[in-house]
Amino acid sequence: MSNKGHILAVDDTPANLQVIGETLRGAGYAVATAIDGERALKRLQHYQPDLILLDIQMPGIDGFETCRRLKAAPNTEHIPVIFITALSDTLNKVKGLQIGGVDYITKPFDCAELLARIQVHINLKKAQLQLIQDSKLSTLGELVAGIAHEVNNPINFIYGNLNYAAQYHQEILHLLELYERQYPDPPAAIVDWREQIDLSFLKQDYCDLLESMRTGTERIKGIVVSLRSFSKLDEAEWKPADLHEGLNDTLTLLSYRLQANSHRERIKIGKNYGDLPLIYCNPAQLNQVFMNLLINALEAIDSKYWHDRDNIKNNLEPPQLNISTRMEVNHGEKLVCIQIQDNGVGIETEIQGRIFEQFFTTKSTGKGTGLGLAIARQIVEKHEGILTCHSQLGQGSEFIVSLPAS
Ligand SMILES: Nc1ncnc2c1ncn2[C@@H]1O[C@H](COP(=O)(O)OP(=O)(O)OP(=O)(O)O)[C@@H](O)[C@H]1O
Ligand SMILES: [Mg+2]
Repeated sequence: MSNKGHILAVDDTPANLQVIGETLRGAGYAVATAIDGERALKRLQHYQPDLILLDIQMPGIDGFETCRRLKAAPNTEHIPVIFITALSDTLNKVKGLQIGGVDYITKPFDCAELLARIQVHINLKKAQLQLIQDSKLSTLGELVAGIAHEVNNPINFIYGNLNYAAQYHQEILHLLELYERQYPDPPAAIVDWREQIDLSFLKQDYCDLLESMRTGTERIKGIVVSLRSFSKLDEAEWKPADLHEGLNDTLTLLSYRLQANSHRERIKIGKNYGDLPLIYCNPAQLNQVFMNLLINALEAIDSKYWHDRDNIKNNLEPPQLNISTRMEVNHGEKLVCIQIQDNGVGIETEIQGRIFEQFFTTKSTGKGTGLGLAIARQIVEKHEGILTCHSQLGQGSEFIVSLPAS
């Protein structure tokens, strides 16, 4: 039967656990059990169920206290808790709901009711997460669109005026030459000033300076184009698209993060692009996937060099990020694979199974929301593809997006 979700049941009576376990498994849930609060909390350090069924009267810390601790820990606070208990008085029910339980079921319970209530809360949670993800995506899209628009206008008038600046400069120089020709022996004040400002240097430098202003504005214009194309502001959502274009745009937007800093040299980008057909997709969303994966890779590299500030002594290899694309055939189905590989900190084996979970992050509070990979996987799955990860602690990680090519 399909797996409808993971549930942790906590009860000190083995017979109860058995009934709950059988009921839930029969309905398609994966079930883990714990026989008291402490064990449940311990289990939850490495396991993220979609919902917890919690008995109240147990030896050691009771269900209320267990719930309080769950709600106080960042990695468990978002998991819905349903109390399931023989305590049926209103006072206890209210207390359970006040300390963060989402529902309260009294024993002996009715199996159909238990299953219905569980399903309601799992659905609610899913809807809530979807809302958060949508708003995160649309906020980002709006932000990008806003910046692109705001930067576009001023940069266009700077760029436009550069032509006039060059033209006026030429005209003034020409006037100067005419003067020099007509009046080859100017008075001392003019000669002095001409020497003081080093006229021949000034003439040349003014041209160079205009040229570098032009290069700078062209670069900014390029970034604006990437921003617009990254968020695909002006285009239909689903269409055949060149994935390399999306990767390149995303890299352009991240180029400021590649630069050398006090801990490491510039991050080298190795591109190994295969021959890919156009892929029918939602390009703005896939760009979001590339962005999340690339930012993670850059952060993993940075944290390696940050934690290993003596890297010259320890001889760390230079920071490197490789992006390769290729076609593959799997069980007769044509796939495009996009591989993003870094030589950053890598991921501990114990947490590799959890990195795609919503809100799972190892970054400090305020730095990571833990939604990057969850969103990426969701988008890839919307494209009927898969997102996988291989990693070795201290060596680096690789993430592979495989999408059907048809
Ligand atoms: N390339 C990588 N190298 C090492 N660890 C990684 C890599 N990518 C992801 N991780 C681990 O997976 C966790 C979850 O990643 P995810 O992108 O979902 O969230 P986040 O980066 O912590 O926060 P954000 O919501 O800002 O992306 C990270 O906190 C990190 O521990
Ligand atoms: Mg991330």
